[in-house]
Amino acid sequence: MNLDELRAECLQCTKCGLSEGRTKVVFGDGNPTASILFVGEGPGQNEDETGIPFVGRAGKLLDDYLTAVGLCRQDVYITNIVKCRPPQNRDPRPEEQAACIDYLRAQFRLISPKLVVCLGRIAAQKMISPDFRVTRDHGTVYQKGGVMMMGTFHPAALLRNPNNKPDALNDFKKIAEYAAQFGAEKL
Ligand code: URA
Repeated sequence: MNLDELRAECLQCTKCGLSEGRTKVVFGDGNPTASILFVGEGPGQNEDETGIPFVGRAGKLLDDYLTAVGLCRQDVYITNIVKCRPPQNRDPRPEEQAACIDYLRAQFRLISPKLVVCLGRIAAQKMISPDFRVTRDHGTVYQKGGVMMMGTFHPAALLRNPNNKPDALNDFKKIAEYAAQFGAEKL
């Protein structure tokens, strides 16, 4: 199965209750051969309406961070732990994450990134470690099954607490260094 076929399957998904409230499935966006995969939590209202991840205020901030370090969406791939919007933007429940995780696993296999960047606690706890704490562990690179993983601040959290913006920028600088290294390896 390729990424388009997987997307088509995901768009039909009714594996959990989130499917009942969605306008659009938010599968993912960006470069399907990217070496860096960003994983957020789940779609918000703007994403539910457009079917594209990180297009609201938080998404604009994510774009700003990418731009600040010389990257753009087409250099990376962006998706979420759950592909349908949780009502009132509540945290996705463990059973909803469990129902959706095989899509992310399949995306991961098809994209085959070298670095996975978890945006916020929900993604980092699911992907890196259940006791991941963003303020303590952000920017640290973990090796998991031959792939590097890093957690950083969720852009929506940065909108609420701008004090963490300098730390987030440092994490993105690190991400850009990896991107340059991966690019050089491909040449
Ligand atoms: N927040 C997320 O975690 N993901 C999105 O796609 C948008 C906002």
